[in-house]
Amino acid sequence: MSRLAGRREVLTGLALTPAALAWPGPRAKGTDLPASLARAAARSGRYFGAAARIDQLRAEEALRRTFLRDCAWVTPEVHMKWDALAPSPHQFAFEAADGLASFAKDHGLKLRGHALLWDPSTPVWAKSALAEGRDWAVVSRHFAAVVGRYREQVDTWDVVNEPIDAGAGPRSLKPNVFFQAFGPDYIARALQEARRHAPRARLAINEYGFDYDNPVERRRRAAFLRLLHDLKSRGAPLDAVGLQAHLDLGKGPLKAEIISPFLQRIADLGLKIAITELDVRERDFRLPLAERDRRVAEEVRAYLDIVLAHPAVEGVTTWGLTDRLSWLQDQETAARGDHNRGLPYDGQFRPKPMYWALRAALAGAVA
Ligand code: XIL
Repeated sequence: MSRLAGRREVLTGLALTPAALAWPGPRAKGTDLPASLARAAARSGRYFGAAARIDQLRAEEALRRTFLRDCAWVTPEVHMKWDALAPSPHQFAFEAADGLASFAKDHGLKLRGHALLWDPSTPVWAKSALAEGRDWAVVSRHFAAVVGRYREQVDTWDVVNEPIDAGAGPRSLKPNVFFQAFGPDYIARALQEARRHAPRARLAINEYGFDYDNPVERRRRAAFLRLLHDLKSRGAPLDAVGLQAHLDLGKGPLKAEIISPFLQRIADLGLKIAITELDVRERDFRLPLAERDRRVAEEVRAYLDIVLAHPAVEGVTTWGLTDRLSWLQDQETAARGDHNRGLPYDGQFRPKPMYWALRAALAGAVA
């Protein structure tokens, strides 16, 4: 048994005795694991980051401390979405986004801008204006205000978030408010618009639902590759893609023979890849806690071992750090009394087996 595997098992066994896992936990001494996720990732020239909210970082010292130890990048979980920034047409609300940007600057974190166009976070006033007027100026004013404001700081922008719908006609694009107003060209136009305001930022499309071997995700992968190919062949300023990687224990085993060729085809188009929203949705909440945590950790390890074998994958971001603040604690889960454990830390910032899986996978990845 390798040292790392042995270590993971030991920790899995400890998961039921929280005191034993209180940070700093069992020392990395005697193993060759670097002391944080960011340092583990840096070993292969990659980064580790997490989504965060400035109100939560301000309110919780333990979150702040954990975040600064483990993360080199931050993605605003909500503050840079259009509805958060522009509650009405002539009113901006930059306070939270500015706060997170300052936090990033003060601590030397890189910032991922998320996300310029996403139908569910488009404010009602903008949706009506787009539906009625089909006026691109609504989009360009938004980009000018937001991309312009953070141009010196945002490394990569998610310009379009979640455009794919594998069941939606020949182009497999969601018939969202932008598609309805401007047709399929809205994606290329958005990239050009973003480039005008941020000549140096990297521009990305961010998308979910590519990880498993089932007919829906197979169609989604094919549709996404078609979209990327089309954009590149038309010269659209697209530099990178974000793969959300919301893993799901109900969707069957992860397969390298499915994921690797997909990543390779993205890389072949000259695009960089980031894993942008990693977390794990559990399905069986009745299992013993140690078994649940083991399954989550194994899923993450399996996924990272596949994707980190690709040089085009530049970094990994989890969608938060602690289960307590995870978006996976949704209404449905809460109504059942379940608590999803799909992030590296529990509610008291004790590292769970997923944490050690992340650290070992990041540290062990080939540069
Ligand atoms: C989610 C946030 O986590 C929630 O707090 C918010 O209410 C809705 O958005 N895909 C994305 C993210 O690209 O922006 C979403 O974040 C999760 C799914």
